[in-house]
Amino acid sequence: MIPNRWYAVLESSKLRAKPVAIERLEQKLVLWRDAKGKVVIQTDRCIHKGAQLSLGKVLDGCLECPYHGLRFDPKGDCVLVPFKDRDSKIPEGWHIESHNCREEKGLIWMWYGEEKPEGDVPWFDNFPSTLQKTWQAGTIWPYHYSRLMDSNFDVYHLPFVHHSFFPKVGPVVTDYQVEDHGDLIKTITTLDEYESQRKGDKGKKTFVVDVMMPNLLYLEMSAKLSLLAIVTPIDDQRSWVFARYHAAVPFGGLAAWVVGRFEYSIFQKQDKRILDTLPKGPLQPGEYHYGSVDKGSILWLKKRDAALKEYNGESET
Ligand code: FES
Ligand SMILES: [Fe+2]
Repeated sequence: MIPNRWYAVLESSKLRAKPVAIERLEQKLVLWRDAKGKVVIQTDRCIHKGAQLSLGKVLDGCLECPYHGLRFDPKGDCVLVPFKDRDSKIPEGWHIESHNCREEKGLIWMWYGEEKPEGDVPWFDNFPSTLQKTWQAGTIWPYHYSRLMDSNFDVYHLPFVHHSFFPKVGPVVTDYQVEDHGDLIKTITTLDEYESQRKGDKGKKTFVVDVMMPNLLYLEMSAKLSLLAIVTPIDDQRSWVFARYHAAVPFGGLAAWVVGRFEYSIFQKQDKRILDTLPKGPLQPGEYHYGSVDKGSILWLKKRDAALKEYNGESET
């Protein structure tokens, strides 16, 4: 996982009055809202005897442990120990870790890393920041996020895996372009029929895929319909996959819902059938036999490894 970045961890709408437990970025976390409604993200384990704090309650702007009622403030300091003599002090070090977080664009974001949080949360300029005319869903997928980021660039599986939806699209990549804009990688892929079977432009289709480091995908499905996906790592075997569909048409919310439900119920099943058979764990450079049509994935891996090396000189974990 690339450190010193903002990662989306949950939809804002999923966090209300009650604490919520999630696993992201190799940690068990509890999310709750303080007295002003501001999001708090903390380690989901009480320092007293290790109970799961997310089973507790929010009281007076603090999180109360469900086991013996210790209370922690948004900074993570223990501010109340019910079983303790009123006059004795709260022992030193009774503190849980509080993570830097933000709530923006209908999502909760957590800073992962040691440096001080900086910069804006990653987002595509051409995708709206509000929830108008959108439908969204977040689910856990049993694959390492690097394999999912690789598959985001890969449109030449469409005529095979999703043949039922692209019956006319050919399997040959006739044109492929990659642009490197730092954190943004833009790709344009054109598929066509085998040369011997081409009849004009019948089997031809062009796909535009944009990826933003480390884990965002933008896909223009049509002139009016677009998708933003975020793949946040959980651990070596799992990722949180978030997708927001936007339909710039009247009743866009309904249209986005129809497309999103369809994608979730049919399209993604077709992908999972194959992804289930791939090797597990982080994708290593040189592991796949990439071709010239995989320049997007190759660039993503290079950027990931450069970021990891800059941080600690280690390879992906
Ligand atoms: S384990 Fe949390 S108060 Fe005892
Ligand atoms: Fe697919």
